[in-house]
Amino acid sequence: MYVCLCQGVTDGQIRDAIYEGCCSYKDVRQTLGVASQCGKCACLAKQVVRETLTELQATQAALPYPVEFTAA
Ligand code: FES
Repeated sequence: MYVCLCQGVTDGQIRDAIYEGCCSYKDVRQTLGVASQCGKCACLAKQVVRETLTELQATQAALPYPVEFTAA
Protein backbone atom coordinates (compact mmCIF):
# COMPACT_ATOMS: atom_id res chain seq x y z
CA MET A 1 0.00 0.00 0.00
CA TYR A 2 1.18 3.49 -0.75
CA VAL A 3 2.12 5.46 2.35
CA CYS A 4 3.52 8.56 0.63
CA LEU A 5 1.80 9.55 -2.59
CA CYS A 6 4.06 12.54 -3.21
CA GLN A 7 7.19 10.35 -3.32
CA GLY A 8 5.50 7.08 -4.35
CA VAL A 9 6.72 5.23 -1.26
CA THR A 10 4.99 2.03 -0.13
CA ASP A 11 4.91 0.36 3.28
CA GLY A 12 7.02 -2.44 1.78
CA GLN A 13 9.75 0.02 0.82
CA ILE A 14 9.75 1.41 4.36
CA ARG A 15 10.06 -2.10 5.80
CA ASP A 16 12.87 -2.92 3.34
CA ALA A 17 14.71 0.28 4.32
CA ILE A 18 14.57 -0.80 7.96
CA TYR A 19 15.71 -4.34 7.15
CA GLU A 20 18.61 -2.79 5.21
CA GLY A 21 19.80 -0.65 8.09
CA CYS A 22 17.52 2.30 8.81
CA CYS A 23 16.80 2.33 12.53
CA SER A 24 14.53 5.34 12.96
CA TYR A 25 11.83 7.37 11.26
CA LYS A 26 14.46 10.05 10.60
CA ASP A 27 16.67 7.51 8.79
CA VAL A 28 13.73 6.31 6.69
CA ARG A 29 12.77 9.86 5.83
CA GLN A 30 16.31 10.70 4.71
CA THR A 31 16.64 7.47 2.72
CA LEU A 32 13.26 7.38 0.96
CA GLY A 33 12.17 11.03 1.06
CA VAL A 34 8.92 10.08 2.74
CA ALA A 35 7.01 13.08 4.20
CA SER A 36 9.37 15.50 2.51
CA GLN A 37 6.72 17.35 0.50
CA CYS A 38 3.16 17.83 1.80
CA GLY A 39 3.84 15.88 5.01
CA LYS A 40 0.38 14.27 5.18
CA CYS A 41 1.92 10.80 5.27
CA ALA A 42 4.11 11.44 8.33
CA CYS A 43 1.79 9.80 10.89
CA LEU A 44 1.28 6.64 8.82
CA ALA A 45 4.97 6.45 7.93
CA LYS A 46 5.92 6.72 11.62
CA GLN A 47 3.41 3.99 12.43
CA VAL A 48 4.90 1.63 9.81
CA VAL A 49 8.42 2.36 11.12
CA ARG A 50 7.34 1.76 14.72
CA GLU A 51 5.56 -1.52 13.88
CA THR A 52 8.49 -2.80 11.82
CA LEU A 53 11.06 -1.96 14.50
CA THR A 54 8.87 -3.67 17.11
CA GLU A 55 8.60 -6.78 14.91
CA LEU A 56 12.37 -6.81 14.41
CA GLN A 57 13.02 -6.49 18.14
CA ALA A 58 10.63 -9.38 18.84
CA THR A 59 12.36 -11.47 16.18
CA GLN A 60 15.81 -10.70 17.57
CA ALA A 61 14.67 -11.46 21.11
CA ALA A 62 13.70 -14.94 19.94
CA LEU A 63 17.16 -15.61 18.46
CA PRO A 64 19.94 -17.07 20.59
CA TYR A 65 22.30 -14.37 19.25
CA PRO A 66 21.74 -10.80 17.94
CA VAL A 67 21.67 -10.21 14.18
CA GLU A 68 23.82 -7.38 12.85
CA PHE A 69 22.31 -5.15 10.17
CA THR A 70 24.53 -3.12 7.90
CA ALA A 71 23.54 -0.23 5.66
CA ALA A 72 23.45 -1.10 1.98
S1 FES B 1 2.12 12.15 0.87
FE1 FES B 1 4.11 12.02 1.66
S2 FES B 1 4.92 14.00 1.43
FE2 FES B 1 2.96 14.14 0.57
